[in-house]
Amino acid sequence: MKKYVLIDDQIKKYKKKINVSADKSLSIRWVLMAAQAVGKSIAYNLLNSEDVNNSLIAVKKLGVKVIKKKNLCQINGVGLNGFSLKNNTVIDAGNSGTLARLIIGVLAKSNKTIVLKGDKSLSKRDFSRVIKPLKKFGLSFESNKNNLPLKFKGTNYLSPIQYEELKGSAQVKSSILLAALNTPGKTIIKCLPSRDHTERLFKFLNLPIKIKKNKKYEIIELTGQKQFSGFNYKIPGDISSSAFFIVLTLLSKNSEIKIKNININKSRTGIVEILKKMNAKIKLMNKKIYNGEEVSDIVIRSSKNLKSINCPTEINSRAIDELIIIFLVCAKAKGISYFKNIQELRHKESDRLKLSANFLKMIGVKVEKTSSTLKIHGNPNLELKKNYIVKNFMKDHRIFMMACIAALTLGGKWKIHDPDSIKTSFPKFLSILKSIGAKIN
Ligand code: S3P
Repeated sequence: MKKYVLIDDQIKKYKKKINVSADKSLSIRWVLMAAQAVGKSIAYNLLNSEDVNNSLIAVKKLGVKVIKKKNLCQINGVGLNGFSLKNNTVIDAGNSGTLARLIIGVLAKSNKTIVLKGDKSLSKRDFSRVIKPLKKFGLSFESNKNNLPLKFKGTNYLSPIQYEELKGSAQVKSSILLAALNTPGKTIIKCLPSRDHTERLFKFLNLPIKIKKNKKYEIIELTGQKQFSGFNYKIPGDISSSAFFIVLTLLSKNSEIKIKNININKSRTGIVEILKKMNAKIKLMNKKIYNGEEVSDIVIRSSKNLKSINCPTEINSRAIDELIIIFLVCAKAKGISYFKNIQELRHKESDRLKLSANFLKMIGVKVEKTSSTLKIHGNPNLELKKNYIVKNFMKDHRIFMMACIAALTLGGKWKIHDPDSIKTSFPKFLSILKSIGAKIN
């Protein structure tokens, strides 16, 4: 792919129906669970992206057979801890924090040393958040300051743990749950809410998981070592990929889009809650259930009179991957928007708090940032006329896509680097944009 894209024109009005790529969180979870099931599993509409392909390559290295056909993927599972692997097997998670963190849990009972590595961005991310609980189960780790590349080794003598997860991280919670699945006895996690796909998948597979929720925390109990059979799974579209088209339409004139079959799991729809509070015209229609996950079409119309938001902190985790594109809406909304307790944004594929604040400053928006908060002074008349270059963003796919949406809705002449970043989560992003009329060179 090219080194950069050029965008000189705002998108013209449109009325379209689109499908976005399949959900990344569900796709990776399906691969990891199907590999541990007894017998054959099939996924329909598995996301075809680098993060998911790295997950497939990883389970193949563990001795699992993967057969990819046109619109489906078959995995012949080997049962819990049925993997066959050599000592010092190298697993390359590429850009994917989800794969890297979850696969350590999957391999909790393997007594072979694994070398886990990733790309430049992943190698900067903090793994202490999973190393700490997984050591309690009995795993051992060797790393330089808790970063990748790291070596780890599971054990045949795992013991169940009780753990408090206070970052509200689904990757940490899921890594613990996957280790607990391989562990005899009952593991108990007290955690702040985060996306609950792993728990739903465990329920769908009739695994012995119990969840109690109170206002602030969730208590999850899992009794491990129950085998489960292969399963078929249909994967809906990703709300995190839809987010860019939602905002494109909100900020364009006289336009409308219907995005079909999107996962609207409540732990992922913070963007809908936030944008509705900001006066956006957005509807969820045609609701249905796919394998324990709620799915619907999302319809959005261009919305004038957007107003600022003082975002309730309890929504943050439900919009964690969408906050940066929501910030762009705040730049065009009337009033000062305020986000608190968003320090987790600094630990994503890039430091998204810093990069999005710098991005907004570059386009002339006044922002006030601390290590955990962001204030955005919105301007409904914001229109851009200058030249803008976006580069050095750790090839963060979501920063690239946010910049494209800014270029297509606010004006100006843009050079946006690293378009190949979209391969990790949403390879069709640019072609879908072009199909609705965007001019991108
Ligand atoms: C994910 C969890 C989130 C999210 C990431 C995917 C998952 O990360 O940002 O893109 O699939 O579990 P954290 O768990 O670090 O918040």
